[in-house]
Amino acid sequence: MRLIRLIANLGYGSQREVKAMLRAGRLTLADGTELAESSRVEHADIRLDGEVLDPPQGMVLMLNKPQGYTCSTSDPGRIVYELLPPRFMRRNPVVAPVGRLDRDTTGLLLLTDDGDLLHRLTSPKHHVPKTYDVTLARPLTGDEGELFASGTLLLRSETTPLLPAMLKATGDCSARLTITEGRYHQVKRMFAATGNHVESLHRSAIGGLGLGDLPEGQWRFLTADEVAGL
Ligand code: URA
Repeated sequence: MRLIRLIANLGYGSQREVKAMLRAGRLTLADGTELAESSRVEHADIRLDGEVLDPPQGMVLMLNKPQGYTCSTSDPGRIVYELLPPRFMRRNPVVAPVGRLDRDTTGLLLLTDDGDLLHRLTSPKHHVPKTYDVTLARPLTGDEGELFASGTLLLRSETTPLLPAMLKATGDCSARLTITEGRYHQVKRMFAATGNHVESLHRSAIGGLGLGDLPEGQWRFLTADEVAGL
């Protein structure tokens, strides 16, 4: 790919702005050699202001989403992209959230510009387990685990029962729930079906991938091994 388009597609600026970066000598090789519009160079060898570039297409990152942010590119309120470098929203292909978390849900959100991966992780055909820590308004009755595991729970206005889900009580009013689907407000609706109400919801894992010690509001790229593990 031509150098200008490559840099512009990474969201660093419009093609015109990238041309200006070249004229200003901001795009170089690692040894400081200035690049020209016609330079044929590998992504990994390019430096912008001496820094390596963001990863090429296929990048996957995790964000520890705080409350109050919407998984959308346009919303009157705050959006998750505000927690990332602004250029990520300008990348082509776009960086999209892998599924959605509600505005008031916290925790692990993956974002990627890899359309195949996005499809694989969100398609109803692929039952990727997602684990949530739930705080409830009322104590668990003790019957929820069996109901959620039964594969017979039908949510209001739906025609197909939910796939079996695994519940582990972690306190009188708290539980860890693992589901393998991503239906609309699924966890909240599952507990609503038992006469309870979700007070807070935190996604702690997707498959075997957890947040580790990533602080709330922070993000990081996934390693190649983590992406392969997804
Ligand atoms: N289920 C919900 O109800 N909300 C979320 O944000 C995620 C799963």
